[in-house]
Amino acid sequence: MQIFKTTKNMQTFIQNYKIKNPTHKIGLVPTMGALHNGHLSLIRQSVESCELTIVSIFVNPTQFGKNEDFNKYPRKEEADINLCKSLNAVVFMPTIDEMYPYKDDMQIKLKAPQSLSNTLEGKARAGHFDGVVQVVLKLFNIVTPHRAFFGKKDAQQLLIIKQMIEDLFLPIEIVESQIIRDENGLALSSRNAYLNDDEKNEALKISKSLREASKAIINGETNSKKIKEIATKVLEGLEIEYFEIVNKKLETIKTIEKNNTIILVVVRINGVRLLDNLWL
Ligand code: PAJ
Repeated sequence: MQIFKTTKNMQTFIQNYKIKNPTHKIGLVPTMGALHNGHLSLIRQSVESCELTIVSIFVNPTQFGKNEDFNKYPRKEEADINLCKSLNAVVFMPTIDEMYPYKDDMQIKLKAPQSLSNTLEGKARAGHFDGVVQVVLKLFNIVTPHRAFFGKKDAQQLLIIKQMIEDLFLPIEIVESQIIRDENGLALSSRNAYLNDDEKNEALKISKSLREASKAIINGETNSKKIKEIATKVLEGLEIEYFEIVNKKLETIKTIEKNNTIILVVVRINGVRLLDNLWL
């Protein structure tokens, strides 16, 4: 089991690995740690389809806003390392100085495309996706994977990264992974650790609302407004930040389109933002 903490050592390892194993596939699973079953399912998919899997664990400061939870974001280095070890994945766990060696005004910055990043999550979190593409491109360049694994849980992030791949001609295959939930339907998230039992119970309304939307659609409803009415009834009493029905360009749509619809919901419970979605 190997752990790399510097970009240089990580790069040297990959270069040597590629020379020794020219036909092997390398998979990258970018994470911010506090690994749960959602992350583990991505890691397992990579391990199953690639000879070498690198899991990056890095709480990326540039994707957090000033008033967000960067400092209190859960960090569980030892447990994370053990989980990766048990799955035969190599860990890349750099420090902030390793990933951002230059002071802010010396850094090359990336801008996520406006139409995909100014809406939904981007509205509430200005600059968030700029920070995400900046760090993910760095990770891609350090690890040079053949495949990279991302969860549909962060739908907007996934679409923006796919756009980056196309727009910058990156030779990396993006593998999209299903949302993993707990036995009650709550989508797994490192931020669930902030919730007490009562709040977790309240949070179950989120996935329930998506199930209600799904039921209505199975029963033939295609009108977005009606679906939203049915689903948001379940969320009564919760602080809904947004409930949107969009296509894969993240444009609001009036009618459900098969294979091109995402229903996204964000709810705040006691200040904790919880995000879930349904791909149709
Ligand atoms: P993080 O929130 O740690 O998520 C890492 C990956 O796990 C993402 O691709 C996310 O979509 C996926 N994931 C999280 N919860 C999931 C669930 N319940 N089911 C399936 N997949 C799930 O997303 C980030 O980190 C960062 O923005 C990152 C891409 C690492 C850049 O810093």
